[in-house]
Formats: sequence, structure tokens, C-alpha cells
Amino acid sequence: MPIPVPPAADRSPAPDFDALAGPYRWLEYLSFGPLLQRSRTEFLPQLTSCQSALVLGDGDGRFTAALLRCNRVVRVHAVDASPAMLRALTQQALPDQSRLSVEQADIRHWSPHPGKNFDVIATHFFLDCLTTAEIRDLAARISPWTSAGAAWVFSDFSVPPTIYGRIIAAPLVALLYRAFRLLTHLRPQALPDHAAVLRAAGWTLANQHSRLGGLLVSQLWRRTPCIPAAPESVS
Ligand SMILES: C[S@@+](CC[C@H](N)C(=O)[O-])C[C@H]1O[C@@H](n2cnc3c(N)ncnc32)[C@H](O)[C@@H]1O
Repeated sequence: MPIPVPPAADRSPAPDFDALAGPYRWLEYLSFGPLLQRSRTEFLPQLTSCQSALVLGDGDGRFTAALLRCNRVVRVHAVDASPAMLRALTQQALPDQSRLSVEQADIRHWSPHPGKNFDVIATHFFLDCLTTAEIRDLAARISPWTSAGAAWVFSDFSVPPTIYGRIIAAPLVALLYRAFRLLTHLRPQALPDHAAVLRAAGWTLANQHSRLGGLLVSQLWRRTPCIPAAPESVS
């Protein structure tokens, strides 16, 4: 049964993370120690034989750099709206820069260049910058450019349906959203339902791991063999 998600018609500017590019990693270590990086890299061992990765909203590039280090053949295309974050990402991945391309774009309105075929998509602590409708549109746009069995690795905050979720996780997530609205003008203020729209776009949850009682979730999704073809795919 399709989920009723309103169209993503928002043409507002993307949030501006430029000012956070420098202090981002230190703010993260101060608040969550190494746990966010462990969440990002949870499924790296499953990506050692992939060839072509699309990394969306990777910020200062610690996931990209780790992927390039652990897989010596993979090529990464990284897309982010923030020029400062892309510079930090390029710096992080310097030893493997020959296998990296970067593109500055608002991912809500971005499509892969025709002819691309990815076997990995990575979105770490990024889908929570989008609404459910925007993720549904994104998944519909990029899924046709992935190979059957491709991996979608994801990590993000989550509010578990428990007392801990209600009294600790939910207020903490609300506080983070308020801080990011102040600092970056991020518009969404609630976690999206990424799982429902990924499933509807032809992805199946293959594995997951949580930390801090479910506040941090890492997931590995696999693309099912048959999904609709790319709209303007090469004939
Ligand atoms: C919260 S940070 C997460 C960074 C990193 N992925 C991590 O694991 O910490 C969100 C990143 O997504 C980028 N971003 C947010 N909304 C975007 C959009 N609509 N288009 C492109 N990039 C976006 C920001 O510039 C920033 O680098």
C-alpha cells in the first residue's frame, strides 16, 4: 500500500554548513565522542569490493576518506551543498584524490550524470536534513542509477519507541534540530521516515546496528533487482 507523502515542492535554499566545516569534527567529538564515526563506518567491511560510490552530504569527508582507505579500487563521487565542507572532504581524502570527484549541488534538485552506475550510496547524518517527501524524490531519482544488489549505507539519529526515547532521545533530537536551524537555517525540524520511502523505491533493509539505546542507528539497505528504469537513461 503506497504511503501518502505530499510532493516535495520546496525551492528554499539548502542549509548553509560553511561556518561549521572547521569545528564540525570537534563539536562532534565533544558531544558524542567516537560514536558517530563508528556509526558511519559500521558497514565498511561490506563495501570492500564495491567499485563506484555516491556519497551524499558527507560534510568534512571522514566517511569518504575511510571508504577510500579500506577499498583500494573504489571511485567516489561526493555531492554536498557546502563549498567549505567539500574543501574539507577533499583535504581528508588527499592521499586517494585520484579516485575522488566532488560536486557542489543542492541534492534535493540533483540527478546523477547520465551513464553513471553506482554500487554504493552513502548518506550519513544527512537524510535528517531532508523531509520524507524530499527523500522519496531523491530515492526515485538516484535508484535507477544503481546496480542490482547495490548497497545504501545510512546512519542517523533515531527516537526509539520506548520511555528512554520519549524522555531522553526525543528532546535531544529536538534540541539538535533547533541548534542546526540557528546555525545553518536548516528547515526540517523532525526526523523523516526514510525507511518507508526507501522500501517503496525498491530497497530492502539487510542489516542494522544501534548505539546509545537506539539514539544512533546504522543501516545497510540492498537494492532489489527490479526497479523502474532511469527516466532519461541512455537508449
Ligand atoms: C549534518 S551534516 C552531516 C555531515 C556528515 N555526513 C556526517 O556524517 O556528519 C549535513 C551535510 O549535508 C549537507 N547538506 C544538507 N542539506 C543539503 C542539501 N539539500 N544539498 C546538499 N547538501 C546538503 C551539508 O552541507 C552538510 O555537509
